[in-house]
Order: sequence, then C-alpha cells, then structure tokens
Amino acid sequence: MSDAERTATADPATTGPGSSVARAAAFAGLEPVPGVSKPDPILVADGVRRSFGGLVAVDVEHLEVQRGAITALIGPNGAGKTTFFNLLTGFDSPDEGRWHFDGRDLAGVAAHQVARYGMVRTFQLTKSLARLTVLDNVMLGATEQRGERFLTSLIRPLWRAQEDDVRERAEDLLARFKLDHMRDELAGSLSGGQRKLLEMARALMVQPTMVMLDEPMAGVNPALTQSLLGHVKALREDGMTVMFVEHDMDVVHDISDWVVVMGEGRIIAEGTPEQISSNEAVIDAYLGAHHDAPLSAAEAEQRLADDEARIRADIDEQEPHDG
Ligand SMILES: Nc1ncnc2c1ncn2[C@@H]1O[C@H](COP(=O)(O)OP(=O)(O)OP(=O)(O)O)[C@@H](O)[C@H]1O
Ligand SMILES: [Mg+2]
Repeated sequence: MSDAERTATADPATTGPGSSVARAAAFAGLEPVPGVSKPDPILVADGVRRSFGGLVAVDVEHLEVQRGAITALIGPNGAGKTTFFNLLTGFDSPDEGRWHFDGRDLAGVAAHQVARYGMVRTFQLTKSLARLTVLDNVMLGATEQRGERFLTSLIRPLWRAQEDDVRERAEDLLARFKLDHMRDELAGSLSGGQRKLLEMARALMVQPTMVMLDEPMAGVNPALTQSLLGHVKALREDGMTVMFVEHDMDVVHDISDWVVVMGEGRIIAEGTPEQISSNEAVIDAYLGAHHDAPLSAAEAEQRLADDEARIRADIDEQEPHDG
C-alpha cells in the first residue's frame, strides 16, 4: 500500500490528529516523574499552594496537563485533589502560585470567568438544584458556572434574551445523556448516576475546551458506570481535554492516557496507567485499600453539611457588596 492509499483508507479516529495513536505518541517516551513537561500542555500550574490553618492542603510545584487527553488525578482521601480543582477553576484562591490555561493567566480569575474561558468542572458531591426541573438545571449551565450561587443568575435579563438558543442546546445535551424523558421532572427525583449525567450536561452548556470531573463515577449504580465512562471518552473524541478524580484503578486504566498521583498536597508521581500501577512505592504508600476510597454516605452527608455552612458564611459576607 502506498502512503497515499494508506492516508485515504486510514480511520481518522484511530490515526488522525487527536486520535488514540496520536495521544499515545504524545506520552511515549515521557519520563514518568512529577512535573514532567508535556508536548502540548493546555494547563500549566506553578507553585500553587493552599493551606487551611496549619494544614497544607495543596502544594503543587509544577504540573502540565496535555491537551486533548484524559488525565486521571488519583490519591488517598484528603490528598488535596478537590482543593486543587477548586483552585484551578476559581472556586477557591491559593495562598500563592500561578497557572495558565490555554495561554491565559488564570490566577485571581473568578469561577464564572474561568468557565467562559473554557474550563469547567463538576463537583464530587453533586450540586443540582433539587426543586428545579432537569431542563432548568441544564439551562442554568449557560449562565456560566456560578457555583453554589448561580441561582442569582435566574433573574438576570441577559438570561431571557438568550433563552431560546439556550433551551435548544440544553435539549440536545439532555438527549445526548439520555435524560430527555426526564426533562420536566424535578432534579431531586433523579438517581445518583442520573445526577452525575445532569451535572456533566450542565457543564457542557458553556462549550468548554477542558472539563474537570471530580469523582464522576462515585455513587453511581454499576449499571450506569459503563455509560458514564463512555460519555467521558466521548468528551475526548470531541476534542476536549479531560482531567478527572477517581478512586477505582480499573476505571483509571480503562479511560486515562496519563495519571497524576497526589499525596499530602504534592504531586508524588506521574505516568501512564501501566507505569503508575506497577509503581510499588505509590501503591504501598498511597493507593492501598485503607487510604483510598470514595466517601461513605455518612461522610458525604457530613461534608455537604460542612460545605453548606461555609457557603452560608460566604454569602453572608459577600451579599452587601454584590448589588
Ligand atoms: N474549606 C476547607 N476548610 C478547611 N479544611 C479543608 C477545606 N477544604 C479541604 N480541607 C482539608 O484539606 C485537605 C484536602 O482535602 P480535599 O477535599 O482537597 O481532599 P481530596 O483529595 O479531594 O479527598 P477525597 O478523596 O476524600 O475527596 C483535607 O485535609 C481537608 O480536610
Ligand atoms: Mg475530593
């Protein structure tokens, strides 16, 4: 077969730019060490630190995330994974550090602006609004990511002007995630897995280039896991960059191109899934069954209560300045 014939018959999904072959090539030969440079990083973080009282929750010296790939962020409970996501996406501010997304300096940029620049995230504990319909929840995604406070956007006139276009996009996303039959149900009536799908649909409303998923598979009925994994892979097929937090190494193996391991706030290892799962030191110290697990129902409830208390305090503090 000549080169011309090969080009003509090659399946672009397998061999074209952004294909599995191109992705594997991007990671081939990279040294599996913390902070290693990537060929085409979309996100670069430097010296990002955050402490709570005396506890250093995040202390990331250098991290690059490869464009168009799926990067898993793993590590034991309390390693700082969620806090790191919060910092990168503008939901929390670091004590120090810089990071660039797609060439833009994002330090100090608020979450809704970060989303407008193309980086969105979902939450470990889903934050759908139980008393709004499924469709309304997705439509709200279009008004940027306002975190816990996006309810305020409901009353913005801008919202109404764009409503038709927004509704159409929301309906398309609901169909994509097979939630269209639930569009008029209250979000509170969805199962855990359906809520994860709803959150993903809402995140996609801003047509992001990078999606950060905090434990997208946690609490999901096994029957839905495969379909969720399929949706995450589909994001990559659509050209998006994905970074996701996950505790299940089988899932990590199944869908990740690259794995970043956090421990006590630091990046302690990076590599392909194969390199990480054969790294005895990482397994022993950080990934044993006792260190690393999704939250139990009771822990999740406690954490939600803590979050809510913090959010209330935050709103009380900010409300007068907000108009
Ligand atoms: N708002 C906060 N106030 C005080 N401490 C916090 C806050 N957020 C996180 N922490 C602490 O920072 C550390 C890192 O927490 P984080 O939630 O980022 O870990 P994680 O890696 O996401 O863990 P998990 O796998 O259990 O979700 C923990 O010790 C946690 O208790
Ligand atoms: Mg977490």
